[in-house]
Amino acid sequence: MRIAMIGTGYVGLVSGTCFSEFGIHVTCVDKDARKIELLGENVMPIFEPGLDDMVAANVDSGRLSFTTDLKSAVKDADAVFIAVGTPSRRGDGHADLSYVYAAAEEIADAMDGYTVVVTKSTVPVGTGDEVERIIRARRPDAEFDVVSNPEFLREGSAINDFMRPDRVVIGTESAKAQRVMKQLYRVLFLIETPIVFTSRRTSELIKYAGNTFLATKITFINEIADLCEKVGADVHDVAKGIGLDGRIGKKFLHPGPGYGGSCFPKDTLALVKTARDFDAPLKIIETVVAVNDERKKQMAGRVIAACGGSVKGKSVAVLGLTFKPNTDDMRDSPAIDIVATLLDAGAVIKAFDPEGMKEAAKLLPPAVQYCDNAYATMAGAECLVIVTEWNEFRALDLDKVKSLLKSPAIVDLRNVYAPDEMKELGFAYTSIGRP
Ligand code: UDX
Repeated sequence: MRIAMIGTGYVGLVSGTCFSEFGIHVTCVDKDARKIELLGENVMPIFEPGLDDMVAANVDSGRLSFTTDLKSAVKDADAVFIAVGTPSRRGDGHADLSYVYAAAEEIADAMDGYTVVVTKSTVPVGTGDEVERIIRARRPDAEFDVVSNPEFLREGSAINDFMRPDRVVIGTESAKAQRVMKQLYRVLFLIETPIVFTSRRTSELIKYAGNTFLATKITFINEIADLCEKVGADVHDVAKGIGLDGRIGKKFLHPGPGYGGSCFPKDTLALVKTARDFDAPLKIIETVVAVNDERKKQMAGRVIAACGGSVKGKSVAVLGLTFKPNTDDMRDSPAIDIVATLLDAGAVIKAFDPEGMKEAAKLLPPAVQYCDNAYATMAGAECLVIVTEWNEFRALDLDKVKSLLKSPAIVDLRNVYAPDEMKELGFAYTSIGRP
């Protein structure tokens, strides 16, 4: 089997590499010549644990290659995956499908013989129909099927999520296309991964319904955390107590500063827009979007309170900038709102993130001072804020932290420390949803 993967972003690069690990010949295609050149030298465009080694091994085996030449990659392929970006469209929040449709046109012009065209990017319901229409209009006689095959991998654990997924969703009613997809995922069939075969539109909706459900779960526990603070309860015990009910499940009940990243904010918004277009508003998801946006803005208030009501002229140490650990991705990270609000309120911000500072510098105001390590942020700071739970921030030398801070105030937005221990050590410690 031979496939072409169009787009070498997170989803395209990880999926392409993992398919080659499954024994399939994969050509990854991107318009960005520099990116392709660097990939040829085993320089990854993203930080994803284990990816560089897996790419190197599969390139060596001859199964994985990178090119800007879409035409030749598609010509020889049994299946062509569209894994280009679908960012939020400026102004209206709909998914921007221009890259998907442009790829469909190029694929149409290059296809040779029966080809399965697979949308792997997260795309609104009906996109597969439009991709089919575009290809059919350019190639009336071509033999092809358009399949929806959403990807559920998480950044930071992308390889494991792809190689051992909870399920694979395949949206097509064509038996021929189903056979090709089964062959591509043969390795997962062998380890008895559940495969959901369904219609193309249903498959497209599954991806959005999944992400919006998870975003709702996080937002739910965040609100319960706020209530815990008022009534003197512990949100972790609440999460455990409800999560042990199999109908609820214990995952995605960790409270924090609000969800961010490349998927949840964009996908919740896009689904809300789609539902409105179809006159079936999703009131729960609309509320989730509003509550999460508000939450990210409110987090700075906790820091201001910890600094005695004002941060004007005071130094604040920020640990962690990315939307979660083990990634360099800053998209929609809560740090963006927190840092901007604190700067507006007159704070001096010193920040450190193990992988995210290059991306952060593109998104955060230029006044942010970036430091070489966690401790360098703290010298003379009024308050230390943990925004992202990188492992190295879970194991700080707390005596050293105390000696470096001007006043020993810590705002822990990820609950990585225990309130009792922090109190014993003499910190003024604020966390989320705990007495
Ligand atoms: C998510 C989905 O999990 C994945 O299936 C989909 O394909 C893409 O979007 P990702 O964005 O990589 O993956 O990150 P994820 O680990 O899901 O975290 C998203 C956000 O939710 C982060 O900001 C994280 O900090 C937050 N989160 C997650 C919580 O605040 N609490 C939790 O319990 C879980």
